[in-house]
Amino acid sequence: MTKLLVTGGAGFIGANFVHYTLQHRPEYAVTVIDKLTYAGNKANLESIMDKIEFVQGDICDKELMDKLVADCDIVVHFAAESHNDNSLREPWPFVETNIVGTYTILEAVRKHGKRLHHISTDEVFGDLELDDPNRFTENTAYNPSSPYSSTKAGSDHLVRAWVRSFGVQATISNCSNNYGPYQHIEKFIPRQITNILSDIKPKLYGTGEQVRDWIHVDDHNEAVHLILDKGVMGETYIIGADNDHVNNKMVIELICELMGKGSDWYEHVNDRPGHDLRYAMDSTKLRQELGWKPRFTDNQTGMRDGLQQTIDWYKEHTDWWQAQKEAVEAAYAKQGQ
Ligand code: NAD
Ligand code: DAU
Repeated sequence: MTKLLVTGGAGFIGANFVHYTLQHRPEYAVTVIDKLTYAGNKANLESIMDKIEFVQGDICDKELMDKLVADCDIVVHFAAESHNDNSLREPWPFVETNIVGTYTILEAVRKHGKRLHHISTDEVFGDLELDDPNRFTENTAYNPSSPYSSTKAGSDHLVRAWVRSFGVQATISNCSNNYGPYQHIEKFIPRQITNILSDIKPKLYGTGEQVRDWIHVDDHNEAVHLILDKGVMGETYIIGADNDHVNNKMVIELICELMGKGSDWYEHVNDRPGHDLRYAMDSTKLRQELGWKPRFTDNQTGMRDGLQQTIDWYKEHTDWWQAQKEAVEAAYAKQGQ
């Protein structure tokens, strides 16, 4: 069996990746390494704990990473500090985990000759004007805006340099905004769903005209698997599901509608400083070269079914999020958000 070491496997996308892998890819044995920060939750893996190995630890820990990498075939690197708003409050953990952590993994895969797949974001490209019809491609120049996106950009550059200078066997994917089960309630979509479930009005930053190219987390993870199967070493792949016509206001209105509220049952709050306007992804290379196709693209917003499934998950898992709700909202309230 091929041994996968999944960093950040107790977080949102990582945990979904582990579940997806166990369901669809029996050829892999999975070890998860996760620090269990505020964003990591062992409960995300509870139902499959007996089928994986779980190590609580820090990707910046050189000895630990050396040992775990030596013992696996492929590293799939999800672990990161991931939330823009937090990076504006306190940037240091982002520099440490996203840059030093990725460096530590690169040195371990270099030493042991192991393959790495590095998970990254569309935010490394900065943003487009709202009326710009262009989309990001694998050749778009890097121009990150926030402490979060600049540290992800730094981590991508490290991977590219280790490929070129040391011949490390690595691939990179840059994906747009994910949604689905197990997403921390600090993020836009689960925050609004759990607001409505808590009888709090959803909160829209600024005008809400900003565009995120939403993708269901399972579509992202299937793309990661195709890259593991068929990706070319040293290459970057853009992952996006063509939802770049959907702005934040439309998403909030759809959530309100699906949850039985009037479509205007939300309020505008302070905007995010330096708020990126528009992301749009051109995933032609992934589709044509690796044969990827998103499944959650069924109607005019491309999100209705995926959002309904996500809403149902938060309704059915109140124990998973309720204890955190007050603290998350209190932190936002301090910023008028
Ligand atoms: P998340 O915040 O939900 O999870 C991150 C996980 O990493 C947590 O389990 C946390 O405990 C763990 N972690 C953090 N620091 C660590 C450290 N030093 N050592 C070990 N583990 C550590 O994040 P997510 O949304 O699941 O994002 C996963 C990856 O995907 C990130 O690299 C992110 O940049 C990227 N990404 C996210 C999105 C998105 O929409 N969420 C889109 C594109 C790319
Ligand atoms: O684009 C990929 C990125 O998507 C990932 O790299 C990040 O890890 C992930 O957090 C996400 O970043 P965003 O900053 O785009 O996601 P967030 O969920 O924080 O916000 C999405 C949009 O919604 C953004 O335009 C800000 C807005 N927003 C957010 C919150 C929390 C609101 O309008 N109201 C809110 O309450």
